[in-house]
Amino acid sequence: MRILVTGNLGFVGSVVAPYLAARGHEVQGLDAGYFESCLFGRPADPPTVRKDVRDVEPEDLEGFQAVVHLAALSNDPLGELDPDLTAAINLGGTLRVAEAARRAGVARMVFASSCSLYGLGGAAAVDESGDMRPQTAYAKSKIDAEAALDALGRDDFSPVFLRFATAYGVSPRLRLDLVVNNLVGWAVSEGVIRIQSDGSPWRPLVHVEDMARAIAAALEAPREVVHRQAFNVGRSDANYQVKTIAADIGRLLPHCQVSINPQASPDTRSYRVSFDRIHAALPDFRPEWGLERGILQLRDAYREHGLDQATFHDRRFTRLLQLKHLLENGQLGSNLRWTH
Ligand SMILES: NC(=O)c1ccc[n+]([C@@H]2O[C@H](COP(=O)([O-])OP(=O)(O)OC[C@H]3O[C@@H](n4cnc5c(N)ncnc54)[C@H](O)[C@@H]3O)[C@@H](O)[C@H]2O)c1
Repeated sequence: MRILVTGNLGFVGSVVAPYLAARGHEVQGLDAGYFESCLFGRPADPPTVRKDVRDVEPEDLEGFQAVVHLAALSNDPLGELDPDLTAAINLGGTLRVAEAARRAGVARMVFASSCSLYGLGGAAAVDESGDMRPQTAYAKSKIDAEAALDALGRDDFSPVFLRFATAYGVSPRLRLDLVVNNLVGWAVSEGVIRIQSDGSPWRPLVHVEDMARAIAAALEAPREVVHRQAFNVGRSDANYQVKTIAADIGRLLPHCQVSINPQASPDTRSYRVSFDRIHAALPDFRPEWGLERGILQLRDAYREHGLDQATFHDRRFTRLLQLKHLLENGQLGSNLRWTH
C-alpha cells in the first residue's frame, strides 16, 4: 500500500514510518519539521515533504491508498501555548488533510486521536461510547477533529479514530515530557523519581512500538471493520496510577528515591480506559510491550546515551521548550510558520 504519514518527524512518526515500511508498505512523510533535529538516535526517515498541514493540497495526496495523520501540536501544555493555534493545526489542519485526501481518492485515513479526550474519568474504565469531559484545548481539538472527520466519511473514504493511551518508550526523536519517559529520566539523571502531582491520577499507557502495530492493523483491516470507528489503543492491563509507575521504576532502579510534590495543583486528567473493542475487532493488533520491559528499555537507552541532568532538561526532548526556542529566536512566527 502507498501510505502518506503526516507528522513522521515526531516521536511517534519516527517509529511508525519505518515500521510500516518494514511491513512492505511504500511510505512517504509530510512534516513541518519542528522537531526534525531533536535527535536521540538515528532515525530511518522515509522521503519526506517539508510542509505545513494547514497548506496541504489534493496533489500532496495523489496516488496514496491511505494517510496516517499524526501531525499535531501534541500535548496538553502545548495546547495551552495558544488554544487557537491548537485548533488551527489539530482541527483545521486535520480537516485540510481529510478534504485533500477525499479529493485525491485516498480510501482510508487513520487519525491519531487520544484517550485524553475522556478527561476527568470516574471509577470505571471508560469505553469508546463513554462521556467526553476534555480538560484541555488539546483534548478538545481531538474531539472536534473526530467529529469533523466522521462527517466526511462516505463509501470511498473511511476515517478511523485511534484513541491512543499515553505513549512511552524509545524513539529516535525522543520525548521526555511523557510520564514514563520522564520519570525514568529523573531516575537515571538525578537518582530521584520526581512526581509532579500527588501520584494519584490514573493513566492508560501504550508503548510507541505498539502504537505502530495498531496503526498497521487499522490500515490493513477490512474496510467494514474500521469505517468511521473509534478504538482505544492500549493493553487491557495497562491502566496505572502515576505512583504505581514510580514504584515500578523504583523497583527496577533500586537506588532511587520517589519524591511526590505535595504542593502540586490537583491533576484533573485522570481516567481509566477499556481496550476491549480493539482486541475484539482487530485481532491482528497484539501489543508486545509491558511497562516493566518498557522501563528497562528506557533505562538502558538513557544509560547508553549518557543521559545527564543537562541532557534531561534540554529543549530537544520537551516539545514546549523546543517550540518556544524556535519562536524566541525568530525561526517560527507566532502562527508557528517558518519565517524563512
Ligand atoms: N505521544 C503520545 O502520548 C500520544 C498519545 C495520544 C495521541 N498522540 C497523538 O499522536 C500524534 C503524534 O504524537 P507525537 O508524540 O509523535 O508528537 P510530536 O510532537 O513528537 O510529533 C508531531 C509531529 O507533527 C508535526 N507537526 C506539528 N504541527 C504541524 C503542522 N502544522 N504541519 C505539519 N507538521 C506538523 C511536528 O513537526 C512533529 O514532527 C499526535 O497527533 C498526538 O496528538 C500522541
